[in-house]
Amino acid sequence: MPHHLLLIIHLLGAAIWVGGHLVLSIGILPEVLKKKSPELLLNFERKYEKIGMPALVLMVVTGIWMAYNYGVGSSQWFHFATPLECVVSLKLTLLLSTVLFALSANIFLLPNLTPKKLPIMAFHIICVTLIGVVMLILGSFVRYGGAF
Ligand code: HEM
Repeated sequence: MPHHLLLIIHLLGAAIWVGGHLVLSIGILPEVLKKKSPELLLNFERKYEKIGMPALVLMVVTGIWMAYNYGVGSSQWFHFATPLECVVSLKLTLLLSTVLFALSANIFLLPNLTPKKLPIMAFHIICVTLIGVVMLILGSFVRYGGAF
């Protein structure tokens, strides 16, 4: 697949993932906390999950594919030897932390979301949003040769 097409799919995924989380954090979460309404949050989660998760999967596939195109294969991950390896390794580390937050939310919080659990759920959402924004910023370094 041409690199440019991979990049377009990657950017669409980033728009959905980061955009959706910013809408949730800035547009919906304050009202959820004010009204102490798990239902308001669950309504958004149910709808967003269907496009958010495929978007994340697409970003992982296209991201790893593009990294291979740049000569950063799995044997170079987490060596932090070149600026590009740094970007890819940091992105993979942040991806892992996103997955851990998602697992924690889905196992411990979402199945029985009570008003008491809303602040810790809000913490999860804000962390995943900030991680997404950092991943987007890290991605933008690639065209300049990588970070650090
Ligand atoms: C929440 C997850 C992610 C977001 C929001 C994100 C966002 C972005 C953005 C905005 C770019 C900028 C492209 C440009 O300069 O035009 C980019 C590039 C890139 N991303 Fe990601 N990314 C994510 C996950 C990943 C993952 C998991 C990998 C795999 C290691 C990855 C690898 C790359 C690579 C190699 C590029 C450079 C593409 C190029 O400029 O040719 N990304 N990403």
